[in-house]
Amino acid sequence: MKRIGVVTAGGDAPGMNAAIRAVVRSAIYYNLEVVGIERGYAGLIEGRCRVLDRRSVSGIINLGGTILRTVRCKEIMTDEGINKAAEFLKSINVDGLVAIGGDGTFRGASRLYEASGISMIGVPATIDNDVSGTDTTIGFDTAVNVALDAIDKIRDTATSHERIFVVEVMGRRRGLLALEVGLAGGAEIILIPEIKVDLDKICERIKRDREEGKISEIIVMAEGAGDTRLVTEHIAKTTGCEVRLTVLGHIQRGGAPTARSRVLACQFGNKAVELLAIGERKRMVGIRGEKVVSVDLDYSWREEKKIDLGRYRLAEILSL
Ligand code: F6P
Repeated sequence: MKRIGVVTAGGDAPGMNAAIRAVVRSAIYYNLEVVGIERGYAGLIEGRCRVLDRRSVSGIINLGGTILRTVRCKEIMTDEGINKAAEFLKSINVDGLVAIGGDGTFRGASRLYEASGISMIGVPATIDNDVSGTDTTIGFDTAVNVALDAIDKIRDTATSHERIFVVEVMGRRRGLLALEVGLAGGAEIILIPEIKVDLDKICERIKRDREEGKISEIIVMAEGAGDTRLVTEHIAKTTGCEVRLTVLGHIQRGGAPTARSRVLACQFGNKAVELLAIGERKRMVGIRGEKVVSVDLDYSWREEKKIDLGRYRLAEILSL
């Protein structure tokens, strides 16, 4: 093993830069050269890359986004796209690729492995935390804290105006982010795609609580749990309360990574290079408890990550 590549793909996540830095510096430690692929998997198809030396990653550990940039690349899903990408990887003489991203990135990496025979190591980085084989992902903690900061502010105005706020957080397929944010933010109600609820029952509960003196509610809703506008209108009509909707959107994906996201990025980036150096072919790094581990790359995207029902129940108990 002499030369490796690193790519960030899919949606960006705070801490991706810290992971790139960790990959580059760890590779130098193992006497490996590093090539950075630009613009995600699109860069593999377009043939865009640059050599990354130790100084090229100075001063980025604290930056959100990704210096390599990223693209949601549809072409990589096609045979033609995969073959072009595999050919380019072979042409730049890399013996392994560290793919930083989420489940879609790992699905692509798996296909790239089949097409090129080049080793692939996945580094989970997504604010959604919807990757199997790891307790958490780079960027998740940052996004939780960004959303939490917003919710704390919303609560001030919700209380002053005796209003209900529906706060839409990211997660178009999964509700792990909404659940974490809802529990930490003391949300009265958490709506996620994995758990179906009866909205009318929720409205009855709100009305009862209001009669007993409650003056405001925060409802945290994952974008994938339904149409937040319709939910807001329905609650307003059924309860007679004033309801407002706040969509947090992409602010959750930006900003400086938290210490937790940075440390994870350092650990994951280093472990990924270590795996390549010992000859692993197709793995994803992860964390279980305090231990940095690795799992089969395919497990990461084939298995659906389970929602922590205990956490959901806990949020319900504490919201009384
Ligand atoms: O995959 C991360 C994520 O932030 C999701 O939570 C969100 O639904 C999606 O990306 C938004 O993607 P885009 O920025 O491409 O619109």
